[in-house]
Amino acid sequence: MQSIRLLLPADAASYRALRLRALREHPEAFTSSFEEETVRPLNWSAQRLSANPARPHDAFLGAFLDGALVGMVGLQGRYRAKERHNASVVGMFVAPEAGGLGLGRALLQELLGRARALAALEQLDLTVTQGNERAQALYERCGFTVCGVLPHAIKVDGRDFSKIHMVLRLRG
Ligand SMILES: CC(C)(COP(=O)(O)OP(=O)(O)OC[C@H]1O[C@@H](n2cnc3c(N)ncnc32)[C@H](O)[C@@H]1OP(=O)(O)O)[C@@H](O)C(=O)NCCC(=O)NCCS
Repeated sequence: MQSIRLLLPADAASYRALRLRALREHPEAFTSSFEEETVRPLNWSAQRLSANPARPHDAFLGAFLDGALVGMVGLQGRYRAKERHNASVVGMFVAPEAGGLGLGRALLQELLGRARALAALEQLDLTVTQGNERAQALYERCGFTVCGVLPHAIKVDGRDFSKIHMVLRLRG
């Protein structure tokens, strides 16, 4: 059975394990690195999943298959006065054994629903590594459009990758 729900501090251990797996297995897909995150304590993950009144747009969703966390995606707001209407979609991952079941799309649709319900939010952005056609196609099917490319955006084992920037207007 599949389900999508908000991740809570009690999910910190499984969230951390899945996130580290994503970073280890797909280093070119994420700007964060396994090496940076593996040294962070479990409490760091619990904090990330805690409701924070100073960061009201932030949320992480999990996809569960038969009770096990197999996918996740996050929304991270920006809170300076001039850019408060923006938030970024971050950390999208579905474990390969649960891939192709529609969980990536379900996670994103649920996140977009939450974002649309936040009155102050007007647009979402994300970055996807150039060449990650599966992820880019998923974002395009959910309404994101390409707005630019940052060449040489990340270096993984000495190899440069460009990042495609994508945007989705929520309203206006
Ligand atoms: C990208 C990713 C999240 C997709 O997750 P998923 O659960 O397999 O995705 P879904 O099953 O919802 O499929 C999404 C769509 O991609 C399509 N798809 C499947 N394989 C594809 C491929 N090789 N190329 C293009 N599209 C593909 C599916 O048909 C589906 O389309 P639909 O919604 O119109 O039916 C997952 O593969 C992943 O975590 N990859 C590694 C990490 C990563 O790249 N994260 C993104 C960082 S920006």
